[in-house]
Amino acid sequence: MMVRTSTLAALGAALVAGLGLPALAADTTPAQQLARFSTQAGAAGDAARGQRFFDGTHGGEWSCSSCHGKPPTGPGRHADTGKAIQPLAPAFNPKAFTSTARVDKWLRRNCNDVLKRECSAAEKADVMAYLNGFK
Ligand code: HEC
Repeated sequence: MMVRTSTLAALGAALVAGLGLPALAADTTPAQQLARFSTQAGAAGDAARGQRFFDGTHGGEWSCSSCHGKPPTGPGRHADTGKAIQPLAPAFNPKAFTSTARVDKWLRRNCNDVLKRECSAAEKADVMAYLNGFK
């Protein structure tokens, strides 16, 4: 378990160092990401449900807030490596949710860390509604 986690963390660090943020072009907005996931889910995201999902654990050690903070409006800290993480709520981080590739890449990795599977479209829509609700 720890081996898998550190391997993922190392991989993440390597990817961040290798690709960097500028390599992923800004092509979307938080509102467009909410619309995308809601369309995929066939239902609008629900912010209250998103908060419960975000702050809760799902059978493992970590919740989303373990790394992104509670609430996710300030800098987060990686639960494993201690590395600083930019605020996730878009009102507090203008770069958050501006690259579809980046959003998909991190959701794939983070959902797997927290749920041992990918997040469903409905779960992503709920989280997006929660994050977009911060002003
Ligand atoms: C083990 C630590 C960790 C956990 C747990 C975690 N994340 Fe992350 N997440 C990160 C890191 C690191 C980044 C990259 C942030 C950076 O470069 O500043 C990130 C980035 C993201 C991004 C990309 C945002 C953007 O556009 O820049 C999204 C979306 C995201 N996380 C959602 C989630 C969700 C939803 C969960 C819960 C299912 C979650 N994360 C759990 C560490 C984590």
